Amino acid sequence: MPMLTQRFTADAPWMIDNYEALDGYTGLRAALMLAPDELIAMVKQSNLRGRGGAGFPTGMKWQFIPRDDGRPHYVVVNGDEGEPGTCRDLPLMMTDPHSLIEGIIIACYAVRAEQAFIYIRGEAVHAIRRVSAAIEQAHAKGYLGTNILGSGLNCVITVHAGAGAYICGEETALLDSLEGKRGQPRLKPPFPATNGLYDAPTVVNNVGTLACVPYIVRGGAAWFNGIGTPGSPGTSIYSLSGRIANPGQYEAPMGTSLRELLDLAGGMSRGQDLKFWTPGGSSTPLFTPEHLDVPLDFDDVAKAGSMNGTSAIMLFDESDCVVRAVQKWSQFYAHESCGKCTPCREGTYWYIGIYERLENGAGTAEDLETLLDLSDNILGRAFCALGDGATSPVTSSIKYFREEYQRHIDLHACPFTSPTTAQRS
Ligand code: NAI
Repeated sequence: MPMLTQRFTADAPWMIDNYEALDGYTGLRAALMLAPDELIAMVKQSNLRGRGGAGFPTGMKWQFIPRDDGRPHYVVVNGDEGEPGTCRDLPLMMTDPHSLIEGIIIACYAVRAEQAFIYIRGEAVHAIRRVSAAIEQAHAKGYLGTNILGSGLNCVITVHAGAGAYICGEETALLDSLEGKRGQPRLKPPFPATNGLYDAPTVVNNVGTLACVPYIVRGGAAWFNGIGTPGSPGTSIYSLSGRIANPGQYEAPMGTSLRELLDLAGGMSRGQDLKFWTPGGSSTPLFTPEHLDVPLDFDDVAKAGSMNGTSAIMLFDESDCVVRAVQKWSQFYAHESCGKCTPCREGTYWYIGIYERLENGAGTAEDLETLLDLSDNILGRAFCALGDGATSPVTSSIKYFREEYQRHIDLHACPFTSPTTAQRS
């Protein structure tokens, strides 16, 4: 049974009347019958883990918000969604914006915040308009504003358009951007839970995380725990793209394998065999066909040597050149590196020079060692996850496809003669 996408086939679910007719805002009504701490306990028991990629326990994050500290508290929604291959926050905001708004109001009540911000990337004008319209509807119906549903709760939500920088998906860069500064990551700790927006306690949650909350309140922690795997309950919206017959978003219980998802999505697109794939976006180490049966949840993917990340599965077949794919991702990271820390700024720049040599037939065996050495010097030494993520496709592709790198060096050319043709077809 779909959860987050259950209204996707309904008639205009973004209109508040239609949303209400489909159990909309009943989670909020139920939440307001509980004390804020009871709500936090419920979300903790549900074991909901952050859908932005890191999988941090949501209830624990809410519990970190200090009580009675005299400072304003904020809820900030990360809708920046920039990880290559990831496309699940946008469909959620476009199709079912009220489930996000309902989740935000419940989160505000739980952590005693009266102001929330939704940070949406600026190019997604359609989503900004859709969510803004839904907020206006929610105000008109008394779900936002003052004394919500007679409970005494006050809550307003402001939509903020980002400017299309990948780094602004990193939570502290996002907060700086929201404050009107250049979006660059802050040193952690302190974490936003104690020193976030305007240095006040702030919950930063992803769109998909908050959209789960109304269902948890309605169905209960035990119900939610019964879906998915014990360590990663609930469902995930897996974004399938690349060499797949029917690309798109597939909601399935956490722990579904790629083999099962391939069945749902009609298999590979061109009769060629799967060669490599990303389990959770390009920042997660590559998998190969040997990982087809790995349960795609936070713990099992980690055990198999990668990360569940954003559940963005990009599939490549035997006609695709892994060196060229990693070259493209490296160009992306170099372009998006904010430049604040040296390992990431310089390391990603060096990557693209080496990949250009390898693809153009001028690579040497030494280049492979330099790539690994560079990766060692970025991983764990960069300011934020962007640098770490940039190393994932590099080191994993060398681990699984070293001989393909070697062929580039031996042939003095890319063995995949028409990669762009293959990629376009
Ligand atoms: P992280 O593990 O540092 O933090 C995760 C969350 O837990 C943050 O909100 C952090 O504030 C909180 N947290 C962690 N320890 C805490 C503590 N001791 N006290 C209070 N709060 C604490 O991971 P990060 O750097 O936020 O995210 C990395 C992930 O982001 C990667 O796994 C990647 O998959 C994902 N990602 C997602 C993108 C997207 O488009 N959705 C883009 C790029 C990366």
